[in-house]
Amino acid sequence: MSEEKQRKTFAIISHPDAGKTTLTEKVLLLGGSIRSAGTVKGKKSGQFATSDWMDIEKQRGISVTSSVMQLEYENVQINILDTPGHQDFSEDTYRTLTAVDTAVMVIDSVKGIEAQTLKLFKVCRMRGIPILTFINKLDREGKEPLDLLAEIEETLEMDTYPMNWPIGTGKRLKGIYNLSDDTVDVFSEEAEERQIVPYSEVESLETYEREALEEDKMLLEEAGNDFSLEQIQAGEMTPVFFGSALANFGVQSFLDQFVQLAAPPKPRKASGRWISPDQQQFSGFIFKIQANMNPNHRDRIAFLRVCSGSFERGMEVTLSRTGKKMKMNQSHSFFASDRETVNRAMPGDIVGLYDSGNFQVGDTLIDRGEKIKYEEMPQFPPEQFAKVTAKNAMKHKQYHKGIEQLVQEGTIQLYKTPYFEDYILGAVGELQFQVFEHRMKQEYNVDLEFVHMSHELARWVTKGDVSDLVSDHRKMLVNDQQGRAVLLFENDFALRWFQDKNPEIELSTGWEIL
Ligand code: G4P
Repeated sequence: MSEEKQRKTFAIISHPDAGKTTLTEKVLLLGGSIRSAGTVKGKKSGQFATSDWMDIEKQRGISVTSSVMQLEYENVQINILDTPGHQDFSEDTYRTLTAVDTAVMVIDSVKGIEAQTLKLFKVCRMRGIPILTFINKLDREGKEPLDLLAEIEETLEMDTYPMNWPIGTGKRLKGIYNLSDDTVDVFSEEAEERQIVPYSEVESLETYEREALEEDKMLLEEAGNDFSLEQIQAGEMTPVFFGSALANFGVQSFLDQFVQLAAPPKPRKASGRWISPDQQQFSGFIFKIQANMNPNHRDRIAFLRVCSGSFERGMEVTLSRTGKKMKMNQSHSFFASDRETVNRAMPGDIVGLYDSGNFQVGDTLIDRGEKIKYEEMPQFPPEQFAKVTAKNAMKHKQYHKGIEQLVQEGTIQLYKTPYFEDYILGAVGELQFQVFEHRMKQEYNVDLEFVHMSHELARWVTKGDVSDLVSDHRKMLVNDQQGRAVLLFENDFALRWFQDKNPEIELSTGWEIL
């Protein structure tokens, strides 16, 4: 793809079943990236049972190509990063969000904002990632549009600006009114019969429909917010689109506006200063590692987000963490159904690098000049913990290797107890343990023994000495991968009790907002 084109790099986040896959398919279709819908994913990540997930693991070909998708639209190169829908993998989604410039939030109009995904929306909000909202399933009887806007404003504490407005919903869906140019996308079951018509010329509306729309327009004008691109790109206001991904209605207008509203690559913080995308020095960071692309080889692909300068195939780069120099001969960009060799990539682009075990999630790569390091990926606080050992002590070599590699990939978090160095795994949800167990067995031939613990909260010790702390079932002292002291608590009560007794110790969630 051309290097002069503007880049718009985004991820879609949604609650499982809200319509993320369907919307992605329709967007790709409009961009001409896939010939027919239905090829984006083998399975819907939101709905799988454990066994399905294992199948997905086996069919890496499918899940990997859908990790990053590219399309060109209106002279803009759009990079779409996929995120797993299942809440047990929200840490994965969280890391992916560090690599995008915009997030698209898909909301089911029947359900509104759902609790499980609220956390992720809040992450975007707190990090100032611009959010575009697509309220989906307009072909169903959903919540009132005004109520949906109010819900977004209240739960995310951000302003909304409706870009279009539904005329009827469900069976009575007549169209969507476009606020910017006073036109209506007239709905019809038959896609060929749909047209965009100036509002005054729409003939199909009943008087009561017109009146309802007029009333809503007036309300929005009087009580609504003023449109501000600046606020949108600062993540303080979300433009809201209504539509139906399944019926492919409203998706075109969404995409047309998306290319205007989504943020271009912005300066990013590394080693305490801001690195501009147009700085000459190449730099980027690894936000995701995916292993097992080919079950016969333990090859992995590291996903690099280019932040400044340009990436060129064959170039020599330095890994900031170790100072190691490497030649980048095998690099790929991803299309919906193909992998292509990438020769040159610009800020905002995602490149897949073959990795024989050099990279860790969060690593910075540079070409020459000053060694900078992009800010550490904040850890997502795990909520479940388990002690883990190998069933067969003879396999300790594979056991350690497997754990080390899977932790580098970010599959799971690893902690160690002081002195004895027992391994404690931390996960956001049970499924993460199961995937870990499965992969240890399949890829490293190690059977694991898990002892689930009663602790549910992790807090990083930011001030004070806890080395004398006696661990018990209420609280436990462990060290994270970087050797930092972390306290695991059984529940909120145990945490508060500890804080009351030890006011000199300062604790942090490891993640700004929880
Ligand atoms: P996800 O990736 O967010 O999990 O959602 P996905 O696109 O897989 O959509 C979840 C379900 O919602 C699918 O139905 C899909 O067809 C449906 N859906 C998506 N967009 C719309 C829409 O605009 N209107 C309506 N009415 N439904 C929509 P399913 O029955 O679970 O799967 P399928 O067998 O239809 O694929």
